[in-house]
This record gives sequence, C-alpha cells and structure tokens, in this order.
Amino acid sequence: MSLIYETIITSLDVAGHVHIAPFGIREEQGLVLIAPYRPSASLDNLLHHRTAVINMTDDVRVFAGALTGRRDWPLKQADKVKGVVLQSALTHRELELVEIREHEIRPELLFRIVHEVQHRPFRGFNRAQAAVIELAVLVSRLHMLPIEKIDAEIAYLHIAIAKTAGEREMQAWQWLIERIDNHKAAKDMGNIA
Ligand SMILES: Cc1cc2nc3c(=O)[nH]c(=O)nc-3n(C[C@H](O)[C@H](O)[C@H](O)COP(=O)(O)O)c2cc1C
Repeated sequence: MSLIYETIITSLDVAGHVHIAPFGIREEQGLVLIAPYRPSASLDNLLHHRTAVINMTDDVRVFAGALTGRRDWPLKQADKVKGVVLQSALTHRELELVEIREHEIRPELLFRIVHEVQHRPFRGFNRAQAAVIELAVLVSRLHMLPIEKIDAEIAYLHIAIAKTAGEREMQAWQWLIERIDNHKAAKDMGNIA
C-alpha cells in the first residue's frame, strides 16, 4: 500500500483553457505519480504540455465543485511552468513530466518537482473536510454504486458534517447531496440504468 494525498490538479488544454480536477497523488522515489483513468481531460492536458500544478487546499468546495460543474475559482499564474495555481492552495507544486507508464485503462505519469511554495500553514485535521472528500469520491463513482451503499455512507459521513463543519464544508456537502439527489431522481425516472 502507498500513501495517497487528495489534491487538485490544475492543467491547461491545447487552447490554454484551465481545467481543475481532483486527483489522488502518490510519491515514488522523489517523483510525483498521477494515475488518471481514461478518458480524462486532465490526462490529455498533462500529456500535451508535459507540466502540471498540484494544489493542496483545505477548501473542499473546490473538490465538490469540480464534480458539480463549479470550477470558477480564483487563480494565479504558476511561477516556473506554464500553468495556474489555486488562490486557496495552502501549498502548491509545479511539475514536469519525466516518465509515462502506458496502460490501456489507467496510465501512470511520473513528474519531477520543479518548484514548491508554501502559502499558508496547515491548520489541523477537520472531520467535515474528510467527510466531504469521501462523499466526493463516491460522487465520482456514482454510476457504479448501488443507491443503498450511497445512502449508508451519507448517513455515516453526515455525523462529522453535523458536528464539525464550517460554512465552506456545509456548502460543499450540499452541492454533492444535490448531485446525488438528481442522480436518484434520474434513476427513478428510468433515465439511468
Ligand atoms: C478525492 C478524489 C480523488 C480522485 N482521484 C482520481 C485519480 O487518482 N484518478 C482518476 O482518474 N480520477 C480520480 N478522481 C476522479 C476525477 O477527479 C474525475 O473523474 C475527473 O473528472 C477526472 O476527469 P477529467 O480529467 O476528465 O476532469 C478523483 C476524485 C476525487 C473526488
């Protein structure tokens, strides 16, 4: 097993438009490993420009927003590579692609860390933030999961939300719940198998 950190990858498409997506990253011998399932806009962008920016943010709205069509977050230019940084990043790293392990379903991209900046201190663990990340992972797999499993997870994760959420966490949670409700409604109407 290897340690995985949940981050936000900002990348640029061929035309220079920004793309924001959550990705779990690993470290392997000083390199950063990103493994996107195909198809992925991020994968296309990373392969095209051979650079990436990873943003470590505690604003979980960015995670929930990426899965619910809300991707308009304040950005600034990266320092050393062609790319952008989330203003909400506590830390960001600028990366350069050095190796591709080809795979039909999930290729592995290895990046060298070119530059790293710490913007704000880590303020400690927050259970509601972790709960939002968990629910975001479920939402990204909604089409594969039975409704009963989703409902059971929501019931458990909501305990942390009720006890420890601030405004940002509450909003992010709400966006994900709305997305799940819409999915359930579409299923009930027979639009989704
Ligand atoms: C916390 C979190 C971690 C994720 N990690 C990965 C990952 O490692 N690989 C992947 O393919 N998708 C991952 N996803 C799902 C992607 O963010 C999502 O499918 C996204 O749309 C990527 O596709 P895109 O590059 O086309 O935007 C993750 C989602 C969440 C919420």
